[in-house]
Amino acid sequence: MNDAGSIKPIAGCTISANASLLERTTFRVPAHTATLIEVHDAGALPALADSGMLQPENALILGEGSNVLFTRDWPGVVLSLATRGIEIVEDRGDAALVRAAAGEHWNDFVHWSLDHGFVGLENLALIPGSVGATPIQNIGAYGTEVDEFVHAVAVWDRTTQQPQRLAREACGFAYRDSLFKHEPGRYLITAVEFLLPRQRELRLDYTGIREELAAMGVTQPDARTVAQAVTRVRTRKLPDPASTGNAGSFFKNPIVSSVQAQALKHDYPNMPAWLLPHDQTKLSAAWLIETCNFKGLREDYAGVSNQHALVLINYGQATGAQILALAQRIQRVVLERFGTHLEAEPLIIA
Ligand code: EPU
Repeated sequence: MNDAGSIKPIAGCTISANASLLERTTFRVPAHTATLIEVHDAGALPALADSGMLQPENALILGEGSNVLFTRDWPGVVLSLATRGIEIVEDRGDAALVRAAAGEHWNDFVHWSLDHGFVGLENLALIPGSVGATPIQNIGAYGTEVDEFVHAVAVWDRTTQQPQRLAREACGFAYRDSLFKHEPGRYLITAVEFLLPRQRELRLDYTGIREELAAMGVTQPDARTVAQAVTRVRTRKLPDPASTGNAGSFFKNPIVSSVQAQALKHDYPNMPAWLLPHDQTKLSAAWLIETCNFKGLREDYAGVSNQHALVLINYGQATGAQILALAQRIQRVVLERFGTHLEAEPLIIA
């Protein structure tokens, strides 16, 4: 099975043996997979399942690799969903159901939605990755999370080896979380159905957005100019994975009890904190990391961005193990100083 030369070709996909993953993750760390399958047509999945290549314990799904860190080679199959296609499946007048294939590039889809007169995805412009990856960690930025627009997720269920359609309510969406994270081997996302409104109030309250619009000379913002503002802010504040190896935020913002947050506020009055329901408070992982003096730190080729403390960087030749070692050191120091565990955001293949 690990020798792709011995595998029968399957229509709709390309299979290669001992393939490098270096250019397939935005961290660009060295790793190989025994078998790489690029799926161009989701119709290939039944044949791949029949040939035993979709076994959950063996096959890893990769979109554009913007949320994964390999610290070693992968002995099984890496499946790359390269399917394309966006279609309006049902026009409801004030909104439409739009289906996008998993392999579509997310930012292209955001711009497709704006070009077709839809509103809502503008705050999520320029997030790296594919459409199929967005429900997994429920991507979010500048006051919007993608689950607000997800209507259903089309999957290949590797337990039953059948296609299935999961309604939004079944997806267990929460902050940077979903069912797909809790059952990592089970569902292969093939397409996402979005319910996109044609009119909606713009979300401009996240720090920096109104200021950016003002700097652009925009007095009457619309979805397009908000997308431009978000793009400008992201470009300035976050390192571009096209030129600097990184996977966006490496840690989630920790959610702690409000009692713990108040105790920390007592010692650190400038600490950012956002009250949540049920006596919980969200802290800023970036602030915790910066306060522990990690921002801009570089060790060999691994480092912490000097633009944003949440982003770990591969300055060229770092291995996944070196980046993971740095992440673990940050976790230790933050835990010792603040009593708070920082949970890693990307999938770590350790
Ligand atoms: N901050 C620092 N140091 C820094 C950066 C930020 O102290 O280097 C503090 C500041 O107080 C700032 C606050 O953190 O006001 C919040 O910063 P930011 O607006 O950048 O948001 P974040 O909570 O750090 C989250 C997402 C980002 C998303 C931004 C904007 C997570 C894990 N990250 O970051 O998502 O772009 O909000 O909405 O929730 C990603 O997931 O890859 C990602 C980049």
